[in-house]
Amino acid sequence: KKILYTASECTPFIKTGGLADVIGSLPQALVNEEQADVRVILPKYGTIPAKWHEQMTEIASFPVQIGWRNQGAKLFKLKHDGITFYFIENHHYFERQGVYGYYDDGERFVFYSMAVMESLKYLDFTPEILHAHDWQAGLTVAFANILQPIKGMKTVFTIHNIKYQGMLQFEAFDDLFILPREHFAGFEWNGMINCMKSGIFHADKITTVSPSYAEEIKDPYYGEGLDSLLRERAGDLSGIINGINTDDYNPMKDPHIHANYQTSRAKKKENKKALQEAIGLPVNGDVPVYIAISRFVEQKGFHLVEHILHDFLQNDVQVVILGTGEYEFESSFSWFAQNFSDKMATLLKFDEGLARQLYAAADFFIMPSKFEPCGLSQLISLQYKTVPIVRETGGLKDTVHAFNEFDGTGNGFSFENYNAHELLQQMEYSLKIYHDPKQWQTLLKNVNKSKFSWKDSATAYARLYDELTPAKTKGE
Ligand code: GLC
Repeated sequence: KKILYTASECTPFIKTGGLADVIGSLPQALVNEEQADVRVILPKYGTIPAKWHEQMTEIASFPVQIGWRNQGAKLFKLKHDGITFYFIENHHYFERQGVYGYYDDGERFVFYSMAVMESLKYLDFTPEILHAHDWQAGLTVAFANILQPIKGMKTVFTIHNIKYQGMLQFEAFDDLFILPREHFAGFEWNGMINCMKSGIFHADKITTVSPSYAEEIKDPYYGEGLDSLLRERAGDLSGIINGINTDDYNPMKDPHIHANYQTSRAKKKENKKALQEAIGLPVNGDVPVYIAISRFVEQKGFHLVEHILHDFLQNDVQVVILGTGEYEFESSFSWFAQNFSDKMATLLKFDEGLARQLYAAADFFIMPSKFEPCGLSQLISLQYKTVPIVRETGGLKDTVHAFNEFDGTGNGFSFENYNAHELLQQMEYSLKIYHDPKQWQTLLKNVNKSKFSWKDSATAYARLYDELTPAKTKGE
């Protein structure tokens, strides 16, 4: 099967969130399992590190029609780890600081999507399926469906986060698109052009990144205004859980951490002491360490954390928070670190190496998200044998199962309602289990057995692709 992925970010080239990890590892998994030939087409951002730009070769140069104007585009190609990547260059749209957050983000991805349609003429590859990810690529699905650049090509649209939808003034339909008016309804939502809606409306199949989230977004609480459309399309909507790259996230080989280990708690304690030493907390291998690593945004449940810190820090524990984000959280977590300096540290940065040292050192990982399409950090935490404490939503619900001290099942702690005291209760309960050697061992055994590689997810995607384009029988 030949499949073209359209997306706005991908490791190792450019990353702002979990989407990049998925686009950077799922194609590999499908190719490894010999399930499909997957290639990826991305914007050629100026902020992609120079060493990648240097390895790209130009394969075509062509105009892209944006409304009444033409914009130039150049198409580049790069092979990395066995996967072919294509990049679309246009200095005006993509030669900027950062990745998103510009007033014309909508137009930038209209351009990207139209350029993808043109690129199909120049690729050494004829995709049977175009698989688009999140709003930035939503229009590639809509345009492919309407313009039919390749006859019979099917489309899949994956929702990684329905909160971000990509909205433009409705006038954009006439100003930027080159489509007959009759198609307007497929793009419009509440008086705006909505890229997420366009993808959902036009795709042959829709997926999201966990079975629970696929259910949740059909409900107004989680649907961000698109729930009615998702209920209409429920027959084509399914959830496939993400994996993580277990080769990369591997405590046995991770070069960033102090002591490599597989499951050894003694080794984890060494990592704990090294971390405490490095960030100025009292060095003590026995004190339970709780961490949170994230962007500080409402989605990740930081309001709950903020509320319970004062109470929780009365215990004999240490809490370490790593990340950056909204000012409210940065300042309140800094306040706690100053006022409980022997128990809490707040590290306001995004640092991959330090993040891995935290995963290796900690006993517990806190992730009480308000909503969570899949979530990758709870999987990384399990991979580093750190016990997750989560809210039961989306992918968190599908990957973390509450520990039950009576039948000895479960690999973490969880609570149902978005309520700070439910979180506090679970954190206090986790502390009780930590100090009960028999229960703690049982829990750790379950944690050690948790596995989330890409293999099963790749098989599920391959099955979906097969459904869309059944193998031709002889004579056809
Ligand atoms: C988004 C979601 C996150 C998911 C990731 C990859 O970032 O918020 O839950 O894990 O996409 O699919």
